[in-house]
Amino acid sequence: MSDRERWDARHAVATGTVAAPPDALRGREHLLPAGGRALDVACGRGAVAAWLAGRGFAVDAVDVSPVGLAAGAALAPGVRWIAHDLTAGLPPSCPGPYDVVVCQRYRDPALYPALAAALAPGGLLVLTVLSEVGDSGGPFRAAPGELPAAFPGLAHLAHDEGDGQASLVARARG
Ligand SMILES: C[S@@+](CC[C@H](N)C(=O)[O-])C[C@H]1O[C@@H](n2cnc3c(N)ncnc32)[C@H](O)[C@@H]1O
Repeated sequence: MSDRERWDARHAVATGTVAAPPDALRGREHLLPAGGRALDVACGRGAVAAWLAGRGFAVDAVDVSPVGLAAGAALAPGVRWIAHDLTAGLPPSCPGPYDVVVCQRYRDPALYPALAAALAPGGLLVLTVLSEVGDSGGPFRAAPGELPAAFPGLAHLAHDEGDGQASLVARARG
């Protein structure tokens, strides 16, 4: 079964999506730039993309699942919803630069350089992935310290690991 088929099936039975900030930014909303362009990578049903749009950002939101994207479009029609398989990298229609890039609960280390490259000078990166820290490990989980090590060129503002999750909030220099 493909990523698209598997996630379409999961999104089809989910309900009740509401706009919400990225987990790693809760209590740190002051780090968010005042406005500009935002990219939500693997946006799912669009909760974070809709929240960013509500904060005045022009938002591009990418996911492999048309079912997830349709739920997002119902929540926030003004977002640009883009169906795309991220195993091929970011879509050509999303070259950046972005003032905010969010990727929450989708982990592909091959994508890390593209996420950093998509940031505008001073742009904010907000990541959350599954982690081996506080969990039993597995193919989808980040090793300890993976996120800060993957973004050496950014200023790291917050890094949390534990309970099977890791997050990084970092800012591009300039
Ligand atoms: C755990 S969900 C996270 C959704 C959202 N970011 C959130 O935090 O609620 C993972 C998302 O990654 C998407 N996804 C999985 N494989 C993908 C791929 N190869 N390309 C693009 N999106 C993919 C799924 O459709 C799903 O929406």
